Amino acid sequence: MCGIIGILGKHEVSPQILDGLKRLEYRGYDSAGIATINSGKLDLRRAVGKLINLSDIMVHAPLPGRSGIGHTRWATHGGPSVANAHPHRAGRVAVVHNGIIENFRALRAELTSAGAEFGSETDTETIVQLASQYLEQGMTPVEAARSTLKRLEGAFAVAFLFEGEEDLIICARRGSPLCIGHGAGEMYLGSDAMALAEMTDRITYLEEGDWAVLSRGGALIFDAEDKQTNRPMTRINVENTRVDKSGHKHFMAKEMAEQPGVLQAAMGYYSGREHDSLELPQGLDFARADRLIMVACGTAFYACQVAKYWFEKYAGLPVELDIASEFRYREPVLGPANLALFVSQSGETADTLAALRHVKPHVAQVISVVNVPTSSIARESDIALPIHAGPEIGVASTKAFTAQLQVLAILALRAGLQRGTLSPKAFAERLFELRAVPGFVAQALDREEEIKRLSEVLSQARDVLFLGRGMMYPLALEGALKLKDISYIHAEAYAAGELKHGPIALIDKDLPVIVFAPHDGLFEKTVSNMQEVMARQGKVLLISDAKGLAEAGEVPFRLAMPTVPDFIAPIVYAVPAQLIAYHTALHRGTDVDQPRNLAKSVTVE
Ligand code: G6P
Repeated sequence: MCGIIGILGKHEVSPQILDGLKRLEYRGYDSAGIATINSGKLDLRRAVGKLINLSDIMVHAPLPGRSGIGHTRWATHGGPSVANAHPHRAGRVAVVHNGIIENFRALRAELTSAGAEFGSETDTETIVQLASQYLEQGMTPVEAARSTLKRLEGAFAVAFLFEGEEDLIICARRGSPLCIGHGAGEMYLGSDAMALAEMTDRITYLEEGDWAVLSRGGALIFDAEDKQTNRPMTRINVENTRVDKSGHKHFMAKEMAEQPGVLQAAMGYYSGREHDSLELPQGLDFARADRLIMVACGTAFYACQVAKYWFEKYAGLPVELDIASEFRYREPVLGPANLALFVSQSGETADTLAALRHVKPHVAQVISVVNVPTSSIARESDIALPIHAGPEIGVASTKAFTAQLQVLAILALRAGLQRGTLSPKAFAERLFELRAVPGFVAQALDREEEIKRLSEVLSQARDVLFLGRGMMYPLALEGALKLKDISYIHAEAYAAGELKHGPIALIDKDLPVIVFAPHDGLFEKTVSNMQEVMARQGKVLLISDAKGLAEAGEVPFRLAMPTVPDFIAPIVYAVPAQLIAYHTALHRGTDVDQPRNLAKSVTVE
């Protein structure tokens, strides 16, 4: 989390840095700041809260200069305050940083006893104090930065700016992403290529452990052993990085509305020439696997939880599912015939990436399903399958979730075919169903007005319970997560059959209970659990299809969904889960795209 940008420009850089930070604001918005060098002098501006506060400050106190660095923060060490905001400065150095310096306490103690005075509670300030101390000892900026980097432990990306150096930014990547942009007589630096999209389409991704010395003439890149190295320059598709709301009130609204198109595109991307065939990367081998290990965080984890049902049902492949932050620390048993599958929108989530690195030497193949094809997770996988959802800016993941499901469903079908558990006929039938998803998702989106009305009731609630069975259980979990994320209403999800083992004690007339129950093989059982809730005056909202609603009898609130095949139901039922959270949040007046305390890309453990 936290976004970094740096520019060595031909013109004033502050407006460009602000623009770049706007594109990085999804990484955190607790505070923001910019430092520049103007006529050799280092100066900075910082503000708490959203970027707009920094823009306001800079209207009255502009920050001239053609070299600069900027930062948008998600607080880790030290609360959101001006003192804790980046850039941090000590003497002639300013630093912006993303990640965590794990040995900062020891460094801080050492620096304090050497006379350094700290002005913040951050781990970052140790970087800048160290670099300043090295400069005072007579080192050049490059030596000071290199010596500083050697002292740091943890996962981070960092950029240094030095007073008196108009043509120099030094940056380093260890665990957190960082890329360099090439312009005509200008150089840029950003946490992701999207931040630089308005400036250049020529990008060099730094590798793990790299550090680089930037000047307007280019970049000198060094690897973890300080050997000068070359990293390839790639051209990114700037079209794919466009980030506007296209007339929608929020990015989340735009991204939900985009789903039929996104799912169609993802399907098209993996479709073969024949209507009943798939085109997937060579070497994807499910046939010899004895186990599939799936690891992810947040919404991506719930996509994996749905996919577990698919892989087990259609491919007979045992699936082990783990939350990334738990995975490596429980000493999982790994084997040479295991496949590992990582799912991540950003492709940069620190825990997921660490889990990938943990399994890679021990398993047959590492596969990833990502939205950002240039991300660390994609690049470190043996096979990366992009979901082609385009930039997702709203912190609450929507189109990435349904596109992840679509791609995971494709993989499960391929696995079924390869393992002989799906006949070619059954494979073709399921594929046919999958092709219908965009149309059904469009129909589900058409229920928005009704959901808006239902959400008004929910917005009054203090707690909400979500229930589902089978593949609707992870959907219930996703619905509860979305509601918490953006409306700040406490929500919990339970497997409907588990209700009577505890949470039923919570039921009273004030507790809305949302039940996901398409008319499938588990419908009767879910409806029985729903009756148990209604018998205790719980306020049920049943989300089902025409047959389900007809058979369920009297229910306080109901939402009709299109009738869809069981296989694809979780993708279609994701839409009401999203819309309920969105409209409940609107009724409550919360910040839908940038909910408090959250960040889109979680690059710290
Ligand atoms: C954050 C985001 C979630 C996301 C999760 C995993 O918590 O707010 O929307 O699901 O990270 O992110 P990833 O990029 O790995 O899918």
